[in-house]
Amino acid sequence: MSSQNQGETTEAQLAVHWKEEELIQPPPSFIAQANVADPGIFERFSEKNFPECYHEYANLLDWYKPWTKTLDTSNPPFWKWFVGGELNVCYNCVDRHLATNRNKTALHFVPEPEQEPIQHVTYQELWVRVNEFAALLRDVCGLKKGDRVTLHLPMTAELPITMLACARLGVIHSQVFSGFSGQACGERIADSQSRVLITMDAYYRGGKLLDHKKLADIAVDKSKDEGVVPEKVLIWQRYPGKYSSETPLIPGRDFIINELLPDLRGRRVEPEHMGSTDPLFLMYTSGSTGRPKACQHSTGGYLAYVTGTSKYIQDIHPEDVYWCMADIGWITGHSYIVYGPLALGASSVVYEGVPTFPDAGRPWRIAEDLGVNIFHTSPTAIRALRRAGEDLPLKYNHHFKHMTTVGEPIEPAVWHWYYDVIGKKEAVIVDTWWQTETGGFLCSTVPALQAMKPGSGGPGIPGIYPVIFDDEGNELPAGSGKAGNICIRNPWPGLMQTIWGDPDRMVRVYFDRYCKNPNSKDWRDWPYVAGDGAVFAADGYFRILGRIDDVINVAGHRLGTKELESAALNVPEVAEAAAIPVPDELKGRVPELYVSLKPGYKASPELSQRIAQALSDTIGPIARPKNVWIVPDMPKTRSGKIMRRVLTAISTKSNTGDITTLANPDVVEEIRKTVQG
Ligand code: PRX
Repeated sequence: MSSQNQGETTEAQLAVHWKEEELIQPPPSFIAQANVADPGIFERFSEKNFPECYHEYANLLDWYKPWTKTLDTSNPPFWKWFVGGELNVCYNCVDRHLATNRNKTALHFVPEPEQEPIQHVTYQELWVRVNEFAALLRDVCGLKKGDRVTLHLPMTAELPITMLACARLGVIHSQVFSGFSGQACGERIADSQSRVLITMDAYYRGGKLLDHKKLADIAVDKSKDEGVVPEKVLIWQRYPGKYSSETPLIPGRDFIINELLPDLRGRRVEPEHMGSTDPLFLMYTSGSTGRPKACQHSTGGYLAYVTGTSKYIQDIHPEDVYWCMADIGWITGHSYIVYGPLALGASSVVYEGVPTFPDAGRPWRIAEDLGVNIFHTSPTAIRALRRAGEDLPLKYNHHFKHMTTVGEPIEPAVWHWYYDVIGKKEAVIVDTWWQTETGGFLCSTVPALQAMKPGSGGPGIPGIYPVIFDDEGNELPAGSGKAGNICIRNPWPGLMQTIWGDPDRMVRVYFDRYCKNPNSKDWRDWPYVAGDGAVFAADGYFRILGRIDDVINVAGHRLGTKELESAALNVPEVAEAAAIPVPDELKGRVPELYVSLKPGYKASPELSQRIAQALSDTIGPIARPKNVWIVPDMPKTRSGKIMRRVLTAISTKSNTGDITTLANPDVVEEIRKTVQG
């Protein structure tokens, strides 16, 4: 397998080569209570029942008007699901639970400071708060169906409240991860042409109350530079009644939400009747070229898909206490903290801070206190918790029935620790593989029906038919032992509708490569290209190896090498930059940066530091490179292309391979000396 950019080292080439692990059967106690224990599901969701099989998911929702067509394929690959149907996402996640469950907790907000009380927001309270805030958005800001707003909110209850209020009105929300910089937020405000920015004054992270409002000022400046001026900045107070930021308010632009809300007390807003194919939200993600792009997710198809998979794969029952430790700023949080669990009427935990704060026992104290029985996290978090105390979880009295790992491949040893120590061998584990673009899970075991295989995701979930192609478009059969490009043969309701403002990119990046006939209206001719390398084992399980494009998966989060490089190029001394992924014990992969300087400048630790800081300031702390190597020149092909493969080999102390064809082979030895000493 080679990458789309020939000759470069790819994530998949760096990827782990674990031996195939033994299958582990789900615990009988899990099977006894599972939502899906009848193998008939595989038949119901088999290809011969496609696309009507997805009625089963859509029927979990309340519709104002039933759909008339399940799947419209008239404009490939812009598939439309449940066409003609009308519903409201907020109604489905909140209002419909009131009759029987108004007193039940919808959200447990756990502040990072441990002495601060947990807030238990009932469905009734959620409904009241969402209505009042929706009234504010509509009547104070004049927002209406189809408008965009950018959210730059941390992990507090106000984030889902804001999302649900938008959904109630049909306003399209675009939540930017709170750890992203003001600049990154500003670019996204401009790209989505958001009318309003919604933020919070401050939040806790790692024991510090961070001034978050100051990023809003940077974001608005950046967005203005790009020609989009948001009308208002709305600011939630982390401590209602008190402004916790040092940053002054800008009169006429900045409004404290908690000061406006008392005037809206008791206001109710009828949920907008939304078309199934109306957009619900945008979520930006990094691709291989240029700036992050916004995946546009739909109302009906998306909600049906995340509700169905929350029920069948996450095994959420209304009485469960469910904790997904991801951030709502990523797709995992949208689908599997907010929309899926709330549509099912469960209680969902929103934790503000760092899992290891003040110590690595914190998650287990939270789980004990709240009676969490479903737990969902990433390999990076599991590795960090394991490093902080191998036996620590055993000292706590939490009990999970179900656990998830998501976002990156999990090493079998880490998987076993998750299973034995965090799960105490009582919980089933699902390793769910999917992406921002896909809205919900693609590969995973169905937990009561299929055995677990450490290090492997599983087969396509019911209704998803994956396939692996080699570079020539030949299908690699199960058990071939070869890695190839994993694709999904069929449309599914959770797939994004388009790239906001750039539909051609949707076709180019995800469908062009293996499209059998661009004029065809038959979905079978349009496989979805995920951009990951994978191996298809004889037993039907897929093992995901990693990205085959220029995307680095850092702690389960995507960063484009181009984004990192252009941030480095903002430093005046830098002439050229190349970002490469290197293995990291905790985060899976981290970026390492090579730069060459403009004539007249000299390398210094201070300069390396400034370049690293530039990445952190432009993108966010997550983008901070492990090392910045200032080198005399980049290794280049005769046509002037930087050979990242050679740089990766030097960083990982592996063989650089043949370098005689480079334009400047001598520089390789010089770089090696700089890096390896
Ligand atoms: O490379 C795959 C990896 O994360 C990428 C998607 O990242 P993002 O859009 O940020 O969504 C993350 C959460 C869904 C994929 O292309 N990835 C995701 N889940 C897994 C994974 N790699 C291996 N195993 C997984 N379970």
